[in-house]
Amino acid sequence: MYNSIQLNDNIYWLGVNDRKTHLFENLWPLDNGVSYNSYLVVDEKVALIDTVEKSKIDEFLSRIEEIIGKRKIDYLIINHMEPDHSGGIKEILKLHPDIKIVGNKMTFVLLTGLYNITTNHLLIAEGDTISLGEHQLQFFMTPWLHWPETMMTYEQHTKVLFTGDAFGSFGTLNGGIFDDELNMNFYIDEMRRYYSNIVAKYSKMVVKAMEKLQGLEIKFLASTHGPIWRSHIDWVLKLYTSWASYQAEKGVVIVFGSMYGNTEQMADIIARRLSEKGIRDIKIYDASRRHLSYLLSEIWHYKGLILGSSAYNGGVFPPIENLTRKLEDIEIKDRLLGTFGSSGWNKAGVKGLNKWAEEMKWELVATSPETKGAPEKNSIEQCIQMADAMAERLHELYPEI
Ligand SMILES: Cc1cc2nc3c(=O)[nH]c(=O)nc-3n(C[C@H](O)[C@H](O)[C@H](O)COP(=O)(O)O)c2cc1C
Ligand SMILES: [Fe+2]
Ligand SMILES: [Fe+2]
Repeated sequence: MYNSIQLNDNIYWLGVNDRKTHLFENLWPLDNGVSYNSYLVVDEKVALIDTVEKSKIDEFLSRIEEIIGKRKIDYLIINHMEPDHSGGIKEILKLHPDIKIVGNKMTFVLLTGLYNITTNHLLIAEGDTISLGEHQLQFFMTPWLHWPETMMTYEQHTKVLFTGDAFGSFGTLNGGIFDDELNMNFYIDEMRRYYSNIVAKYSKMVVKAMEKLQGLEIKFLASTHGPIWRSHIDWVLKLYTSWASYQAEKGVVIVFGSMYGNTEQMADIIARRLSEKGIRDIKIYDASRRHLSYLLSEIWHYKGLILGSSAYNGGVFPPIENLTRKLEDIEIKDRLLGTFGSSGWNKAGVKGLNKWAEEMKWELVATSPETKGAPEKNSIEQCIQMADAMAERLHELYPEI
């Protein structure tokens, strides 16, 4: 790094980019990489906020040395213990044996479990502060975003809020670091994907955390992944709250599972009719091709969801089955649902989907089109009726768009 980057008044960004890892948590595609952000507050005392993933330790340590030379770090604040941020703790402890590791009760349970670090603990609780000189760190407990120990740290002098994974985004930082330096469309998509994949299951806890932050004057939102927010803070707080309360945009995602194209043909018929009825955002995905990660993000994005499945061995086609299990797991709510599909003899795909819809307590907007083999007159008519019903509901809910 040819120069160190300051957020404000001796608060440094220590982010590193990971363009090598293919799957985050060995699960979610990193097609655009990811950044691990850590921060350094330099005052009479020095505090490090989180570390980075362990493959990036050398770069991380040299960045710290560029800023503080051989000076010792006094505090290591741990907002989150997942290894993409805790991967540097052992090294930091080796280099700074007197450092105080700051966390809550659950932080230390995890610190002991993951790294067997049982010394140097400094236990803090809600509202506690640590003075670094001019800078004052204050701690807010925001558990379950998305682990039990997660918390946020607020620097009162510069009004920087270090949020951990909250407001995090996939995608490396390619030169620009602050929201006003970037093309935000890309990061909003990657942030929604991160939210729906990693955080969404804990949306209730996100709402609680957002309530706790109300009234706090924030000049920087500094997450552990992706851009730092300084110009559009109110906007992003609102956006995050809307995701956490299951709000969605006008549009329809059609995800189908199809071996030989019969179910896929039905998807196209439905989509065409939706378009004729004035729906502009219509996305069609083949669940066998498109990774679950992107499907979840799109489903989080749009109000309308239409799932299609051919019948497969007495049930739903496996990639669609997998998607429904995941939607159940993340407890997504408030979507308009339609289902459809093709079978050879026993309608097992659509039956399975509708049983799932019932368990989710989701209402279907219309009768589910079901065909034996290729779509024929009756099922085509039902596809059209379903598209009409979906479009009508969307126009009712979003009359102005
Ligand atoms: C491996 C396999 C398993 C199937 N299992 C069922 C089944 O359990 N019930 C059924 O009615 N049809 C079953 N079928 C027939 C298909 O569901 C049917 O051909 C359907 O039209 C395929 O739709 P698609 O072209 O969208 O894949 C199966 C077909 C295959 C190849
Ligand atoms: Fe995490
Ligand atoms: Fe993370």
